Amino acid sequence: MNPRTQSLRPLLFLLLWQTGRRSLASAPELQNQPRSIAVVGGGIGGMAAAFYLRQEFGAGVGIDVFEPDAVGGRLATVKIGDHEYETGGSVIHPLNLHMKHFIEKLGIRPREDVHSKMAIFDGKELTFEESDWFLVNFLRMLWRYGFSFLRMQMWVEGILDKFMRIYQYQQYGYSFSTVDRLLHAMGGDSFLTLVNQTLEEVMMGEGFSQIFLNDIVAPITRVKYGQSVRINAFVGYVSLAGTDSGLWAVDGGNKRVCSGLLYHSKSELITARVTSISLKLRPSKTGTTTTFYEVNYVGESGSAHTLYDIVVIATPLHQGKSDITFTGFSPPIPSHYPGRYHQTVSTLVHGLLNMSYLGITEPASQFTVTDILTTDTRGCAINSLSSLDPVHIPQGYQQPPASQAKVWKVFSQQPLSQEQLRDMFLSWDSVSETRWLAYPSYRPPQRKTPPFILHNRLYYLNALECVASAMELSAMAARNVALLAHHRWHQQAGKIDQEDLHIRLRGEL
Ligand SMILES: Cc1cc2nc3c(=O)[nH]c(=O)nc-3n(C[C@H](O)[C@H](O)[C@H](O)COP(=O)(O)OP(=O)(O)OC[C@H]3O[C@@H](n4cnc5c(N)ncnc54)[C@H](O)[C@@H]3O)c2cc1C
Ligand SMILES: *[C@@H]1O[C@H](CO)[C@@H](O)[C@H](O)[C@H]1NC(C)=O
Ligand SMILES: *[C@@H]1O[C@H](CO)[C@@H](O)[C@H](O)[C@H]1NC(C)=O
Repeated sequence: MNPRTQSLRPLLFLLLWQTGRRSLASAPELQNQPRSIAVVGGGIGGMAAAFYLRQEFGAGVGIDVFEPDAVGGRLATVKIGDHEYETGGSVIHPLNLHMKHFIEKLGIRPREDVHSKMAIFDGKELTFEESDWFLVNFLRMLWRYGFSFLRMQMWVEGILDKFMRIYQYQQYGYSFSTVDRLLHAMGGDSFLTLVNQTLEEVMMGEGFSQIFLNDIVAPITRVKYGQSVRINAFVGYVSLAGTDSGLWAVDGGNKRVCSGLLYHSKSELITARVTSISLKLRPSKTGTTTTFYEVNYVGESGSAHTLYDIVVIATPLHQGKSDITFTGFSPPIPSHYPGRYHQTVSTLVHGLLNMSYLGITEPASQFTVTDILTTDTRGCAINSLSSLDPVHIPQGYQQPPASQAKVWKVFSQQPLSQEQLRDMFLSWDSVSETRWLAYPSYRPPQRKTPPFILHNRLYYLNALECVASAMELSAMAARNVALLAHHRWHQQAGKIDQEDLHIRLRGEL
């Protein structure tokens, strides 16, 4: 043995002893795992929470997911003819790593790529039409808006860089107790300012012109969130990133991820609506009192209740979204947080488009635009009009030209009247309408975001939606809440609300 290894031996021993001691100390802790966890809501947030809770707490814990309606929540499809089409959340950004991870884990493929082409409509005519040629688009944009378009992309990329930090933090197991802390860990004070100011204010401050905002930015916020450029700049950024290239969807429908996660996490689906959650105290064998949460619910076979160690609320606690009362808590937990949800009506029409409605004179057979965004002008009753492809692209599929009857999706704030339909379509054979309370009405300055922690071991996932709503953000909140639940259960304070993580973790990449 050389002298070097010999000198290492005591050190090695010390290390072993230390680890041995640690595992000894954690032995009673291991026995003290939670026995049961309830997740309220079977959308992507709730199912992602079930997945991450299983990952954190292991095979021993029972996980129940409560969902009265269809699994998937705001991810839903309708059948028209032989195919299914997305009516709710539809596109996913290429750098949405949680969503990507899910489909890889579940062995689901992304939907096959389909052609898309964008135009902007001002209520009378198309003011911009994307060309098939990148250079033509580039020059058109340059001609009209100078370098604004390029600068916008750079601005979005700068934010994206900071946004991506969350993946590393979560990979290392770090979690955050409030939305503000999470945002601050990603982008410092500048992210908090994004939430507190309108997109318009922030972009004007960055030197973008009002014309650029009206012509280009507003159509994007309208199609993504049904709202104007006066939404907060953070959700504004999420909208702009949603126009990147490489957007994808899940083959067979995005909601498949939800049922896949339910199965993969070996959770129990309870088809029932949760009506109230009450705090229950029970004396334990050791003489101390333990707290439980009594979840009361109504299903097909009547009402019932069950006790849980941990509860995760994965539905918005807002007027019109859910009505859960919390009893026995001090300070009290409200059923509804302030702020309203914005209505977006999604109307799927299988029919023949009226080209004159768009002020187009070219023959419909040559019209290949798939996504028509609209400007924020009074004449525009719709937020967008898109040619829709099925959730599964059959072999040999070809997008039908506008001269044939096909499926169009209209987003509007109010349901379309017969008159409006007659204006937009020459004829149709089916109309399917879904009225969504889709996402929050984003009106900065944000006074106060709801907490992730409602009580000791009662968590609220959709708190993050108050700053921006997207599938990936629900998944991100789910992972945060699962980590938080784990660390708080095992009293690992060092993994909660740590500052300067992006500097501390820099060397560990
Ligand atoms: C029209 C539209 C377009 C969108 N486009 C996109 C997009 O392109 N890309 C994107 O990323 N995002 C998009 N979104 C947003 C995205 O769909 C949502 O952010 C996401 O699906 C929210 O998931 P969630 O699980 O947090 O909430 P939800 O999907 O709303 O799930 C909550 C679930 O809780 C259930 N629930 C409610 N009350 C109770 C109760 N008392 N007991 C038990 N269960 C209850 C509900 O039935 C629901 O299923 C869009 C949304 C809409 C509406
Ligand atoms: C956001 O605005 C509110 C109200 O104007 C203010 O109280 C709060 O401190 C602001 N937060 C940040 C981070 O700017
Ligand atoms: C088509 O659109 C034009 C312009 O909005 C409108 O005048 C006309 O009534 C619409 N319908 C038909 C069937 O042409």
